[in-house]
Amino acid sequence: MSPPRPLWPYPRVIAHRGAGALAPENTLAALRLGRNRGFRGVEFDVRLSGDGVPVLMHDETLERTTDGRGRVADTAYEVLQRLDAGGWFGNEFLGEPVPALAAAIALCQQSGLWANIELKPCPGREVEIGRAVARVVQLAGAGPQPHLLSSFSIEALEAAKQEAPRLPRGLLVEAPPGDWKARLDQLECVSLHADWRHLDRERVRQIHSAGFAVLAYTVNDSEAALQLLGWGVDALVTDQLDAIGPDFA
Ligand code: G3P
Ligand code: MG
Repeated sequence: MSPPRPLWPYPRVIAHRGAGALAPENTLAALRLGRNRGFRGVEFDVRLSGDGVPVLMHDETLERTTDGRGRVADTAYEVLQRLDAGGWFGNEFLGEPVPALAAAIALCQQSGLWANIELKPCPGREVEIGRAVARVVQLAGAGPQPHLLSSFSIEALEAAKQEAPRLPRGLLVEAPPGDWKARLDQLECVSLHADWRHLDRERVRQIHSAGFAVLAYTVNDSEAALQLLGWGVDALVTDQLDAIGPDFA
């Protein structure tokens, strides 16, 4: 008989926003630096351009992390491609582009990085982003470990499930809601991703007993990280890439 599949076959320490503490968040430069520092897992955020291309971007608007203005969802991909997404972080990153999801995945595959891809839909485009991201990830083909799609949006995850049922999914929540198990079952998720401040030993035990892994975000305190791992939390997303490094756990 083959041994049971572990609940969490992915890296335990995951660099937040593509290792966005080392370089401008959600850029290829950040992914490269994260990999060079030894991280094997990264989390990054994806939004749709106005014309439906998935790109790496955390905010709904362009101002904080690029030299553009306005909403990502109102901006054509062709325009996004010409923006500078690096200069705000440091002159050495001037000219760093807003990456298409396809480019980020290609880099992950080349460099042996596993990604937790967070889908951030704007209202009304939940199904569109779920389908689009699932398609791009599926087209890229499987690396050694399939990338994990996560979202606060049930609709986006449901659409991803319809499009590419075999891609693993994780449901993002702040505090686990009363019906967390029903939601995870419905979406056929592998994991629940919760704000670490809303987790405790008993909750982690319940989620594991139901057959799901637990990811805690965004854990920037090493004492808290140790406690969470002591409770059996499967993975931590962190900005503290020195204190909570790739071999922390
Ligand atoms: O995936 C967890 C974490 O990334 C959620 O926070 O706002 O950085 O996307 P945020
Ligand atoms: Mg995120």
